[in-house]
Order: sequence, then structure tokens, then C-alpha cells
Amino acid sequence: MLRIAVCVSGGGTNLEAIFKAIEDKKIKNAEVVKVIGNNRNAYAFERAKSRNVAFECVSPKDFEDREKFNIALLESIKEASPDLVVLAGFLVNVPEIVVKAFKNRIINIHPSLIPSFCGKGYYGLKVHEAVLARGVKVTGATVHFVDEGIDTGRILAQKAVEVLDGDTPEVLQRRVMEQAEWIILPDIISKISDGVIAIG
Ligand code: GRF
Repeated sequence: MLRIAVCVSGGGTNLEAIFKAIEDKKIKNAEVVKVIGNNRNAYAFERAKSRNVAFECVSPKDFEDREKFNIALLESIKEASPDLVVLAGFLVNVPEIVVKAFKNRIINIHPSLIPSFCGKGYYGLKVHEAVLARGVKVTGATVHFVDEGIDTGRILAQKAVEVLDGDTPEVLQRRVMEQAEWIILPDIISKISDGVIAIG
């Protein structure tokens, strides 16, 4: 059984998609063993609580410097002994000590078709604002391995989504979630848990 730790920052809709895929047996050989977040008000924690899944808030605000936060985040993840770490709407740049400790065992969902609209400063609604400002007609989402860079790891899956006239960033974000993120992230987790995609 693949042990998954999920890192979150906000609403946790991608976490919800993972829970639902497990409950619907679309993901057969995996379990979420811990949810870790940097924002104590994240609704994602309510989603973990409703499934009796362990959760912990590790916030940079609670540490006197970044290095102490980085160590605390690593310890919180290691405590769960995960096989796979999933960044699902996690807005913290993953510290190098975590990337090294879980090399090729961390995946991320990014709300654009990498290499477009990614890297430093491109997260959450900002991605969709940039997509609309540029006027592209197609966007989407990407699942990729996490390496030492920002959104630079090996791409595992992508799904395109149409940009429609009159889209606001919020409307576009929702469409990208519904039509891409919530589909490709559980699918890649399923493939990893079935051994179709190798990790580590
Ligand atoms: C989404 O736009 C997701 O693509 C990005 O963070 C946002 C919130 O995700 N990574 P969630 O609802 O917290 O899963």
C-alpha cells in the first residue's frame, strides 16, 4: 500500500480529489497517511479531519528563522514515513533538504501547461491572471516531479483546458481544476501506486 503525505495551503480541492479517487477505488493501492499545511486556517485540514487522517500545521510564522522551519517541515513529513509526497495547492517553495530526502518521491500539481506560466511568482490565481493577460486560447494543468528548481522537474502528465471569452481568473481557475487538476493528479497517483510510474 503506497503511503502518501499531502502538503496543502488552502481549500484542499486537490486533496479532496485524491480522497474521492481512493474512496471510488480509482486509486487502489494507496492511502493518505498525513496532511501537512503551512496555514492553520486551511480548509484542507477540515477535509483531513472528516476522514480521520492525521494533519499538522507547520507554519514559517512559528519559527524564528527559515532554516528552523525547513527542518520542522522535513521532520513532519518524515514522521509519516511516506512513500510519496504530493504537493496539492502547497504554496511554499519546498526546501532543498526535503527535496534531497525524498528525491524523485515528490510530485506537484501546477495550474498551467509547463513551461508556460510557471516558475517564480506563478501560483494560484496569479497563473490564471497571466494566462488571460497574454490572451492564450488554451491552458491546462501539469503534474511533475519536484526537483531543486521551481516547477522544473520531469513532467508526468498534462491536460489542456480551453480559455473562453469573458473568463475571469476565478472562473478559469475553477475550470482548470474541474477539467484538469482533479483528473490528472489522482491518475498519476494511481499509476505510481500500481507501479506503472517508478519513484525513488
Ligand atoms: C489551485 O489553483 C492549484 O492548482 C494550485 O493551488 C490552488 C488551490 O488548490 N496548486 P487546492 O484547492 O488547495 O487543492
